[in-house]
Amino acid sequence: MHSKLLLMKKYFAPGPILYLTAAVLFCIPLSKAVAQDKTETAKMNAFVSGLMKKMTVDEKIGQLNLVTGGMAITGSVTNNGISDGVKKGAIGGIFGLYGTEKVRQMQEAAVKGSRLHIPLIFGLDVIHGHRTIFPIPLGMSATWDLGIIEHAAHIAAKEATAEGLNWVFSPMVDIARDARWGRISEGSGEDPYLGGKVAAAMVRGYQGTSLKNADAVMACVKHFALYGAAEAGREYNTVDMSRVAMYNYYLPPYKAALDAGAGSFMSSFNVVDGVPATTNKWLLTDLLRTQWGFKGFVVSDYTSLNETVDHGMGNLQTVSALALKAGLDMDMVGEGFLKTLKTSLQQGKVTQADIDLACRRVLEAKYKLGLFDNPYKSLDQQREKTEIMTDANRKSARVTAEHSFVLLKNANQILPLKKSGGSIALVGPLADNKRDMLGTWVIGGEWEKSVSVIEGIKHVVGDNVKINYAKGSNITDDTTFMKRLNFGPGMVSLDKQSPEDMIEDAVKAAKKSDIIVAVVGESQSMSGESSSRSDINIPESQKNMLKALAKLGKPIVIVLFNGRPLTLTWENDNAAAILDVWAPGTEAGNAIAEVLFGNYNPSGKLTTTFPRSVGQIPLYYNHLNTGRPYSSGPTKFKSNYLDISNDPLYPFGYGLSYTNFSYSNLKLSKTKLKGNETLTATVTVTNNGSYAGEEVVQLYIGDPAASISRPVKELKDFKKVNLQVGEKQDVTFNITPKQLKFYNSQLKYDWEPGDFVIQVGTNSADTKTARVQWVK
Ligand code: BGC
Repeated sequence: MHSKLLLMKKYFAPGPILYLTAAVLFCIPLSKAVAQDKTETAKMNAFVSGLMKKMTVDEKIGQLNLVTGGMAITGSVTNNGISDGVKKGAIGGIFGLYGTEKVRQMQEAAVKGSRLHIPLIFGLDVIHGHRTIFPIPLGMSATWDLGIIEHAAHIAAKEATAEGLNWVFSPMVDIARDARWGRISEGSGEDPYLGGKVAAAMVRGYQGTSLKNADAVMACVKHFALYGAAEAGREYNTVDMSRVAMYNYYLPPYKAALDAGAGSFMSSFNVVDGVPATTNKWLLTDLLRTQWGFKGFVVSDYTSLNETVDHGMGNLQTVSALALKAGLDMDMVGEGFLKTLKTSLQQGKVTQADIDLACRRVLEAKYKLGLFDNPYKSLDQQREKTEIMTDANRKSARVTAEHSFVLLKNANQILPLKKSGGSIALVGPLADNKRDMLGTWVIGGEWEKSVSVIEGIKHVVGDNVKINYAKGSNITDDTTFMKRLNFGPGMVSLDKQSPEDMIEDAVKAAKKSDIIVAVVGESQSMSGESSSRSDINIPESQKNMLKALAKLGKPIVIVLFNGRPLTLTWENDNAAAILDVWAPGTEAGNAIAEVLFGNYNPSGKLTTTFPRSVGQIPLYYNHLNTGRPYSSGPTKFKSNYLDISNDPLYPFGYGLSYTNFSYSNLKLSKTKLKGNETLTATVTVTNNGSYAGEEVVQLYIGDPAASISRPVKELKDFKKVNLQVGEKQDVTFNITPKQLKFYNSQLKYDWEPGDFVIQVGTNSADTKTARVQWVK
């Protein structure tokens, strides 16, 4: 088992908080730091103003134009002749292009070939690692380990900068409560508090201590805003919600990323309060800049500006003017700004000041990145050769993956498996598969370099355990579905063998073996962008194989790949164990084998609720009580279904361990509090199983009487503890009124006196409870 202390040392790259702490500890006057900041800003302003004086209107509009270099395309491409555009000063940045040689070519075109030598900014969708792929973000969030997450982002930044990049379209911080939505895989799940913590950790990991560092990239927080709340989980669909829901549940992670210093934001595809985010002045200016104080720049999503025409906002010229005035600074791919802003200026539809403001923000970003000092700063061929996919990076990816796995079921302690003796039937279309190990959004990922499950098992147990392998089924036999999946990298194909023969092979392998390990679930292309599903079962082809195997009566261990919660009631009833591995990345097979054979004891916890049926969606733990709350079992005239319970299959925060943790003795320092006092809640956690292990201890608070209806409970804090066999630890949470605050109907952020329910436990549905009264 890994020692927590070592891990923290290894994974905690110094972030701004560390420096702030250092300033406090070593008495470095903060006023000096603030003064330094002001001087820096004044220098930047003078530089940018000086440069803008020399710029023509066309050159200014050019800075607002972001084009794709062609390596990452999620919509239609309307840009041709990039190099000419760069030389003319008609392009401010390029995304989807990496590698020092290619980037240098373009940067030279800008710096040597354009009139004012303004460098380009180079962006990419680096979502969970650049070359060394880490687990998908939903998996990464299941570590509940901010040090690990920050470190993963830092490695991604190192690899990205080693290939010429200085801007990443990450973190994606959209709260999602709907497993049908394929992009739930790219975020941190359903909780605003955890989502905010993860968002901030990622920003720190990407941006480091200074954007000028050679290994720092500017983060781009997306998708602003509410993209994860698409109706019916259907991609690009309408979003409609109250401001109270927005402020309390959906906006916190964006704000947390901003507070961590994120340099840029991306506007989302959806409407917010009826107005597309990309042309939404309330969103991009009143909220983001005026209320929250954002100082960076906002880029549109891929052609999201043009798409506002289809949203019904007017023609391209109208929407481009609207977007500029709303606070959009850079237009991704669609060229609405490029094609129309000059005419709009001449016609008085936008002002010179509107254009200048956006241009200034883009130039400021380049300045902050140090590109005016050294436009070639991320173009070091030596780094490109030595810093990509290093052993250390791969090791971090493996450790992160191990921590991200969630043990959903483990009947009779079937896991961990014995490292020696006996035989295993290793079956399923994901067992001898490299491509689907990586998950969605892996533009720089090379699937050939990933470790398959069968390879990982061989690395860990060699010949000590007999492995009987059979593919057993296709990922799916549904050719219509397959056609839709086969856009982009994750190709799905039919095997030469018939489905029946494949199942027969799996059954034969199982008959020869003591135990069945079935590696099943979703392929790479089943989640991510444009991958909504209305049926979130394991595809039928694989289920048929599982059903045939279940008839043998041998224990089945399911290793589950998924970019979203799946409906697993049959699997939960029929498998002995289920290990959810999401899409673990480059080191998938090694990480899976380490966990299956007990070299690492799983500690991941769900950050998204697993429903029993798709009909329960949206299903999330922090729901309101309603006036007719469900208690147990469907009854008439309660808020429930006739045909199914309201309970999820696996609740938020859930995850087992090979050991057993018990919770006892929840003690509060007081039960009556006043004003700004601090309450401490202490619980004793005991490892009374037979393995050392890590446990995420979770604090929830409920506010049962307030001026608005409040969620039944909300996550407010968590601590990960590492306990040896037989060890006990008192885990203490400090609670202050800050944690009781919420946005009321007037959107005032405050707490209201009354009773509060304090809950501490192993997941959102299994807690120890105590009540306090807290007055102002
Ligand atoms: C996605 C964004 C992504 C962009 C650029 C869009 O389709 O929604 O998340 O950053 O493409 O690749």
